[in-house]
Amino acid sequence: MRRTAVLISGNGSNLQALIDATTRGETGADLSLVIANKTDAFGLVRASRAGIPTKVIDHKRYAHRAQFDQAIDAMLQEFDIELVCLAGFMRILGDAVTDRWQGRMVNVHPSLLPSFKGMNTHERALAAGVRIHGCTVHQVTAELDDGPILVQGAVPVLDNDDVASLAARVLEVEHQCYPLALAHLTGRSIAPRLVLHPDLHTGQGE
Ligand code: GRF
Repeated sequence: MRRTAVLISGNGSNLQALIDATTRGETGADLSLVIANKTDAFGLVRASRAGIPTKVIDHKRYAHRAQFDQAIDAMLQEFDIELVCLAGFMRILGDAVTDRWQGRMVNVHPSLLPSFKGMNTHERALAAGVRIHGCTVHQVTAELDDGPILVQGAVPVLDNDDVASLAARVLEVEHQCYPLALAHLTGRSIAPRLVLHPDLHTGQGE
């Protein structure tokens, strides 16, 4: 079982999906640490309920990004962490960390990369008029939203979608994709690399 840390900033619904899949024996991971950069991240409650040690490393307490990154890295080492999952983690980690963890750090991005790198992906997808959208779990590299793709999830964009409805549908496939990606990373299973949302029909729209 690979000692795995999950880094969060908020609700932690992806963390919950990882916890549930791990409990079912599907990921090959030993979730050993959850780090939040915000004291009020609900994901900390989720971790505590699951008996996973939690730490808060508040980015506002560091004058420079590099110092925050160093604090994160030191905590990962203290807990003998082997793999890192960024799950709703809203900080960009610098090259020193991403280089050190390359191949052992993954992130979930709410778009079908390489489309819509960066922020506000659902808004941009709607504005672009794409008919298919989704999420990508990828390895983290120094280049933002650019590392090798592990798993993608696809959802339809419906005519009456707004940002909230589209984001909610993407989140559904995120929760399926992340555990599959972690299973790949641990070598636990040759899991599927593509998840199709049940509402994805060819040409049937609604
Ligand atoms: C998700 O939409 C994810 O794509 C983005 O952060 C959002 C919240 O994730 N990275 P979570 O509920 O905190 O896991």
